[in-house]
Amino acid sequence: MTLLCKLDEIIEAGTKEYRITVSGIEQDIFIVYHNHKFYGYKNICPHHELSLNWMPDMFLDYERSLIQCSNHDAKFRIEDGECIAGPCIGERLTPVAISIIDDKIMLAGD
Ligand code: FES
Repeated sequence: MTLLCKLDEIIEAGTKEYRITVSGIEQDIFIVYHNHKFYGYKNICPHHELSLNWMPDMFLDYERSLIQCSNHDAKFRIEDGECIAGPCIGERLTPVAISIIDDKIMLAGD
């Protein structure tokens, strides 16, 4: 397991993006804090495989209840990453395995 960040960092920001290296390959991911839980996804929209955000660390819609792609406005449930509105309904964001240990978010794997 690899340390990603401290919980406070996400709780304060709501969403935050990171660049990680998995098996020697760089990946962009983001973490969302929602209803006292943490969720991790790759920062790739299933519609055209573009990054979801245009502004740093901005991944949620205006109501902060859904993940929103800035490109063509797809909206995804925070809890499972399923697209429920926009051009790729039924497709999903790719989850990133995270674990909470003490006051830290850890990435599973190497
Ligand atoms: S690239 Fe995300 S909605 Fe089109």
